Amino acid sequence: MESRQAHRKNEHLSLATKYYQQAHAGHPFDQVRLIHTALPEEAVDEVDISTELAPGLKIPVPFYIEAMTGGSKQAMKVNRQLARLAAKYQLPMASGSVSVALNEPACRDSFRVIREENPTGIVLANISASASEEEARAAIELLNADALELHLNAAQELIMPEGDRSFHWLDNIQHLVQVLDVPVIVKEVGFGMNKTDVSRLANAGVTSINVSGRGGTNFAMIENRRNNQQDFAEIANWGQTTPEALLEAHVAKSDAHIIASGGITSPLDVVKAGVLGASAVGVAGYFLNILIKEGPDALDKVLVDWLGSIPRIITLLGVESFSGLQWAEYVLSPDLQNYAKQRRLL
Ligand SMILES: Cc1cc2nc3c(=O)[nH]c(=O)nc-3n(C[C@H](O)[C@H](O)[C@H](O)COP(=O)(O)O)c2cc1C
Repeated sequence: MESRQAHRKNEHLSLATKYYQQAHAGHPFDQVRLIHTALPEEAVDEVDISTELAPGLKIPVPFYIEAMTGGSKQAMKVNRQLARLAAKYQLPMASGSVSVALNEPACRDSFRVIREENPTGIVLANISASASEEEARAAIELLNADALELHLNAAQELIMPEGDRSFHWLDNIQHLVQVLDVPVIVKEVGFGMNKTDVSRLANAGVTSINVSGRGGTNFAMIENRRNNQQDFAEIANWGQTTPEALLEAHVAKSDAHIIASGGITSPLDVVKAGVLGASAVGVAGYFLNILIKEGPDALDKVLVDWLGSIPRIITLLGVESFSGLQWAEYVLSPDLQNYAKQRRLL
């Protein structure tokens, strides 16, 4: 018999796959069009797709497997399959929130498997932004992690009957950034950030910020399905989409690396995120869906396709590297332009 926490982790996996397709109307990245050049003056094998997750933390590929799971038998199987692919294609991979493992030693192996399957790759440990210094250090140690992700999930917690109701995070984040010896990435979980959030995090010393916006996995919907006490369906569309959050981050003009995640479902989305200023791109729900519904071989094939397509699309923009995408040209749909104008982002 698995614990209550393990049951919750299994529910997240099953609801995240059940509702992934119907989570949102429309695909937010369709609101961004890239401008083709007929004269690329570039060759595919000259394109450099390496980038950085955080200052000094180099990665060979611009996308990675974003935080999902750990804490149950099913989570262990998912983590093992994802970690094998991460090792094969040199993709960084984040664990799901490690807090359950700190409280329940029996489930630690479901996280450790990420490092065991990928001894030399880049592994990120994930924990709440409210974690103490001791918990943060234990999370890093459990995975021998190269970086720590601190998640901001106020909307998710508020929908959960057993969730937190108090969210004073900034001082703790500032402290953790100062004392930890690995890079700290602060991330949302699919509701996006606004320009003030990005400025406040950067001013607190955070050098890598994942705006993780709306458009893919929808934790408002997932937690609402788990909540039998109160119906929060009205906030099913809460938050900034990932393109909106990237435009918000852009005007914050911080020196922090900006990471995109939330609704990334194709190599073109990865490139569009780079054009909107992302230095790396996390993918969670889309990869999980393929893994659970079609198996690891199907996900393997998707990863090969993405790795082949990204340099070709970058070539079509006449750009020589993923990090050079920020100079590529684009236009926004009327809706997104309207958002940007009202928010004074243009
Ligand atoms: C099943 C599942 C579990 C998740 N658990 C965590 C978590 O423990 N910590 C975290 O920071 N984000 C978690 N996330 C959020 C993702 O890391 C990501 O920010 C969000 O899903 C948006 O990306 P996507 O649209 O590609 O799924 C989870 C996502 C999924 C699908």
